[in-house]
Amino acid sequence: MTPVFLVTGAAGFIGSHSVEWLLRHGWRVVGVDNLRTGRLDNLADARSSPNFTLVIADAGDETAMRPLFQQHRFTGMLHLAALVSVPESFREPELNYRLNLATADTLARLCLEFECKRLVFASSAAVYGANAALPNRESALPQPLSPYAAAKLAAEVMLLGYAASYGLEAVCLRYFNVYGPRQDPGSPYSGVLSIFTDRFQRGLPVTVYGDGEQTRDFISVRDVAEYNGQALTRQDVVVGRYNVCTGHAISLKQVLAIYRELFPNAPPTEFASGRIGDIRHSLGDPALLREMLQFSAQTEFAQGLRELNAG
Ligand SMILES: NC(=O)c1ccc[n+]([C@@H]2O[C@H](COP(=O)([O-])OP(=O)(O)OC[C@H]3O[C@@H](n4cnc5c(N)ncnc54)[C@H](O)[C@@H]3O)[C@@H](O)[C@H]2O)c1
Repeated sequence: MTPVFLVTGAAGFIGSHSVEWLLRHGWRVVGVDNLRTGRLDNLADARSSPNFTLVIADAGDETAMRPLFQQHRFTGMLHLAALVSVPESFREPELNYRLNLATADTLARLCLEFECKRLVFASSAAVYGANAALPNRESALPQPLSPYAAAKLAAEVMLLGYAASYGLEAVCLRYFNVYGPRQDPGSPYSGVLSIFTDRFQRGLPVTVYGDGEQTRDFISVRDVAEYNGQALTRQDVVVGRYNVCTGHAISLKQVLAIYRELFPNAPPTEFASGRIGDIRHSLGDPALLREMLQFSAQTEFAQGLRELNAG
């Protein structure tokens, strides 16, 4: 019998690409999503596969989730469902606690009860905060600066505690700035590249907050799906927390130069004052995960950006 994997947040940006990776590699997948920020459209391809089942439910609702664990006896779970907006976590700390921490606990306990051994958790580079020592390494002392980051860190600690206590194979992946098709450009706090792409394609000016010299470690969602899939399905994965990043820093000015090549007639960029809470530089060290999986991010940034704007 082909093993079955559970993916929460399946209809989201990273979720839908991760589901496709698992299906492509011959696994069966049950996706759970409540469509809070995800979209059914994202799963158009996946839903045509006989190996995919979508369940519309709240991943933190134990009553809804228990029968799924009972029925499918999952081999592993990729837990992506979350409140994903940092500003929303400031406005709604209680909801942030429920969606980003309590839900992880509920699911981890169901994993233990139903012998779903592997739990891959979507953490975030946000746990590092404005940590001065770059590149961020997993051994750095985390300094969360938002309720979102705090809940991600707390969930990591809890899952690793369950690993030590009960043998749960918890793998916490700290994603840096993920970009690619299907990222929602809907709010000013969405991934910056999804907003840039949306506005350049519509011939609208983009706004850069600050001087444009701020840097990010952008990683393609295609590489993130590969990391997720491998972390979920490989036998030789070791419990722990791992950066998911490229190890290359790119400034917004460099990003804009690539857009200008792609959209030579675009209106001039507008600059506004920097936003409170925005980190100036973000860069991760990918070595730990690279050594464990013998794989590193494949998509070169300029190429990934061209593909994003072509599609
Ligand atoms: N995109 C990034 O750059 C990035 C960076 C760091 C961490 N992350 C983390 O990766 C994960 C996926 O993020 P994304 O960018 O794909 O966002 P997304 O909003 O596209 O995906 C999140 C999905 O979870 C679903 N969801 C939310 N709460 C749910 C619940 N209670 N029950 C069921 N489904 C629920 C949403 O409907 C959505 O489909 C999140 O945990 C996020 O915190 C993303």
